[in-house]
Amino acid sequence: MSRLLVTGGAGFIGSNFVHYVVEHTEYDVTVLDKLTYAGNEASLAGLPPQRVKLVVGDIADEDLADSMVAEADAVVHYAAESHNDNSLSDPTPFLHTNIQGTFTLLEAARRHATRFHHVSTDEVYGDLKLDDSAKFTPETPYNPSSPYSSTKASSDLLVRAWVRSFGLEATLSNCSNNYGPRQHVEKFIPRQITNVIDGVRPRLYGKGENVRDWIHADDHSSGVLAVLERGRTGETYLIGADGERNNLEVVRAILSEMGKPADAFDHVKDRPGHDMRYAIDASKLREELGWEPGFTDFEIGLRDTIDWYRENESWWRGQKAEAEARYAKVGH
Ligand code: NAD
Ligand code: DAU
Repeated sequence: MSRLLVTGGAGFIGSNFVHYVVEHTEYDVTVLDKLTYAGNEASLAGLPPQRVKLVVGDIADEDLADSMVAEADAVVHYAAESHNDNSLSDPTPFLHTNIQGTFTLLEAARRHATRFHHVSTDEVYGDLKLDDSAKFTPETPYNPSSPYSSTKASSDLLVRAWVRSFGLEATLSNCSNNYGPRQHVEKFIPRQITNVIDGVRPRLYGKGENVRDWIHADDHSSGVLAVLERGRTGETYLIGADGERNNLEVVRAILSEMGKPADAFDHVKDRPGHDMRYAIDASKLREELGWEPGFTDFEIGLRDTIDWYRENESWWRGQKAEAEARYAKVGH
């Protein structure tokens, strides 16, 4: 393998993966990204042009996907519509990109017999109870709740079918909630950090009891790389770093780190169908591929992330008003 095609590489996790690959490997990267509202060319700034190339286009464009896959040794597929709240307002682009787009790439990979890694989410498994110690494993039955997670579940099933029916050399990974630099300000952590910077009180959906299993984006990148290089064809690997916290705890950690009182936030209307708890059992990835997370202290990772948003206002300022206008329409 020498050239990777990274779809969605101008988004949050995709761009962190591209930075990680440039720093830690010898691979060259071609990013295929439509630059939707969530894509940002600035997320690739500073990377060496002789190793990283950006092609702007749609993964569901058959001719483009075919020519890009033909030039690559492996595809790492991140491109997606990724935000649950948007999928509740308008599911249409989620079906286009997450299902049709994945299908288009799989067909191109089949034609060219190209190694394929599919990046997915723990949300395909639905949610867990608060008073239960169970975690998701690769054997947990699929039970997605939202238009977003049901389209990601659909894409996972397509990948599995292409392995079984056509012998495609593909792997899958399902990761928990990521945090870190370059995340769109619509998402929970950057929304609250940038609200506090703007003198606006953070917004907590419902009571704030919902639990997410936070992992730093760099640890997601090292996990994807491990599966890409050493994972077994057809297998699913769960990526998580034992970072369970409820939303109230996260808001309080942000307020404390940013020097605000612990009660300086507002409760707002809950998300319809809001998943209660996600938790990952990553023992397969740890034991089979020897993966370990680098960020084991959430408070330190959160502090670095807050610093990044303080120091990179020019990166996020252009997204903020539009994201808040979308929230205002639905009472969040
Ligand atoms: P993001 O919304 O920040 O980025 C998505 C990127 O895909 C953007 O750059 C966008 O322009 C691009 N894109 C969208 N539609 C496209 C199309 N039709 N053709 C080409 N490019 C297109 O998303 P993210 O949070 O970085 O998530 C990336 C992937 O990781 C997704 O597949 C998501 O399901 C998965 N994932 C995310 C998380 C998380 O916590 N954010 C956790 C687990 C898995
Ligand atoms: O679990 C992985 C998933 O994590 C990924 O597949 C998704 O792409 C990613 O967006 C994320 O989904 P969530 O819905 O968990 O993330 P979000 O940042 O939207 O919300 C995190 C939690 O915070 C969730 O319980 C809703 C809550 N929330 C969110 C916002 C934006 C709030 O309380 N207030 C807010 O303002």
